[in-house]
Amino acid sequence: MEKIRSLLPQQPLAVLFDAYGTLLDVYSVGLLAEQLFPGHGSALSVMWRDKQIEYTRLVTTSNHGAHYQPFWELTRSGLRYACKRLKLDLTAEREAQLMNQYRHLSAFPENKAVLQALKDRGIVTGILSNGDPDMLGIAVRSAGLENLLDHVISVDAVRKYKTDPEAYALGEKATGLKASQIAFVSCNGWDALAATWYGYQTLWVNRYQLPFEELGTQPTRTGSTLTDVLGFFETA
Ligand code: LAC
Repeated sequence: MEKIRSLLPQQPLAVLFDAYGTLLDVYSVGLLAEQLFPGHGSALSVMWRDKQIEYTRLVTTSNHGAHYQPFWELTRSGLRYACKRLKLDLTAEREAQLMNQYRHLSAFPENKAVLQALKDRGIVTGILSNGDPDMLGIAVRSAGLENLLDHVISVDAVRKYKTDPEAYALGEKATGLKASQIAFVSCNGWDALAATWYGYQTLWVNRYQLPFEELGTQPTRTGSTLTDVLGFFETA
């Protein structure tokens, strides 16, 4: 039994969450987008998100990071691109409205209870996100999560976005733990995959019943809501 136990992965000592898409609902902007551009809200919010993430990769992998811009700026650029591509008239006023909505994204309803349950077990909690410190600060406060998070880590500290290993390394630095002692939770398949490659125990929260990335590696666990993170701590 002892031998088997030693082969099982250690229970994580900390849990780090991705923010956008995981704690915060990036598609909650779709409602306002639909009001501003009837019939296009959903397409706009999906293309906006995809372009935002594409830009993080572009600036991280090109020219040794010389073109880095904070996530807020890439979010705005992604919105401008998506509107041009969909032929939507993004006036200055509409842009301001949509960006303001992005600052105050809805938090998924189970967040608080899950974070509280982790704290009750003495687990260190945090966010490890592409978001810049200002955005994360506002989001955490407006979701009322500030007392439930030990760390709010922004990749802005290294000016490299996930999936760069320097970005994932920030989680180890902040907690003083090895990646293998930390559970990383993301709803984004690519983020869960890259964190697994980096060495974290991972939970992919598959909210939208999507297939996982087809690159040969699976996350440690797969769930459908954040509550599934508690599965790491169930004793057999
Ligand atoms: C984040 C983006 C990737 O919060 O969702 O890091």
